[in-house]
Amino acid sequence: MKLSVNSKLPHVGTNIFTVMSKLAADHHAVNLGQGYPDYAMSEDLVALVNEAMQRGHNQYVPMQGYAPLREVLSEKTSALYNTVVDPGTQITITPGGTYAIYTALTTILRAGDEVIIFEPAYDSYIPNVEINGAKPVLINLEFPGYRINWDEVRKNITPRTRLIMLNSPHNPTGAVLSERDMQELREIVKDTNILILSDEVYEHLIFDGIAHQSILRYPDLLERSFVCFSFGKVYHCTGWKLGYCISSPWLMEEFRKVHQFNCFSCHSPSQVALSHFLKNKDSYLSLGAFMQEKRDYFIQLMRGTRFDMLESRGSYFICATYDRISNEKDTVLAERMTRDFGVATIPVSAFYNAGTDNQVIRFCFAKKPETLERAVEKLAKL
Ligand SMILES: Cc1ncc(COP(=O)(O)O)c(C=O)c1O
Repeated sequence: MKLSVNSKLPHVGTNIFTVMSKLAADHHAVNLGQGYPDYAMSEDLVALVNEAMQRGHNQYVPMQGYAPLREVLSEKTSALYNTVVDPGTQITITPGGTYAIYTALTTILRAGDEVIIFEPAYDSYIPNVEINGAKPVLINLEFPGYRINWDEVRKNITPRTRLIMLNSPHNPTGAVLSERDMQELREIVKDTNILILSDEVYEHLIFDGIAHQSILRYPDLLERSFVCFSFGKVYHCTGWKLGYCISSPWLMEEFRKVHQFNCFSCHSPSQVALSHFLKNKDSYLSLGAFMQEKRDYFIQLMRGTRFDMLESRGSYFICATYDRISNEKDTVLAERMTRDFGVATIPVSAFYNAGTDNQVIRFCFAKKPETLERAVEKLAKL
């Protein structure tokens, strides 16, 4: 008998980041596509991991994560958002933000549940919902500001709506949620059984003096939320794949039931190192200004091209339209830019299930100044 598998994700292929990174490598292009820094992470943090290993922190830590790290995260939450979270029952360390999101969805979703997802959306959301037998309900953010139309959300709520997924600062657009957005959300979920998943992996990468509208500011929302974070994204070490989830005790209890039979416990020495590193508040309070400088430098350089930059208020990313260059589909232009001009980017249509094309390209500016300069020198030829 021929072996076969009935795919649980029949529509999923290789993701756009892998495709564009391979194309970038094949054509020796400057890679402003995939979201990772090309500069060194903090030497102090590297030294702390080495020290933790040398001191023998090389065995399993508890399933919920190294206790001093959860304690320092709890202190950070109180200081930044004025909300007390119990490190014992409300915080779990995970191998990255994506895993935290997957685990939260698997904890909650049952076949037939509906999940509201705003597009453009980070590429793991839809497959993560579908593999749990639930149905993504897709709502477009309003182009070109990429804001949520809350009336649209109200219209899409049904008795089957189980979860709303949020992401701020937003990948791929750099849009951020406002206080008004949070009030709308509170109104919508009040007196319902709807839960929230808030992807806040770019928590500290927020610009122009804007205060991050974390779910953690709103105890009534936190009660029904999974809030997912990534150390890799904010500390310039995406390869560490370490993050955490904060939730209410009753949801976290269920989350841990899934987590303990999957990853169980995460890389110990990194957790020990972070528990020391995060005691210095500047380690996270300085991150916004650091990344804003990169955004501003990139915008300044891009004035020498015919791309029109859209607003980016946070994350690693900024998008641009290109009416003054061509009328091509964004996928065609992104490929041509990599092949013929030596700069890899991501076409924003890749973040829509239906491939909606507003002719927008995403650039990652979490790069060394010289990388940005090299890229823009090439882009100026378009
Ligand atoms: C919106 C968003 N969520 C989650 C992640 C993944 O974070 P991690 O690498 O910690 O899994 C990314 C990474 O690109 C992202 O952009």
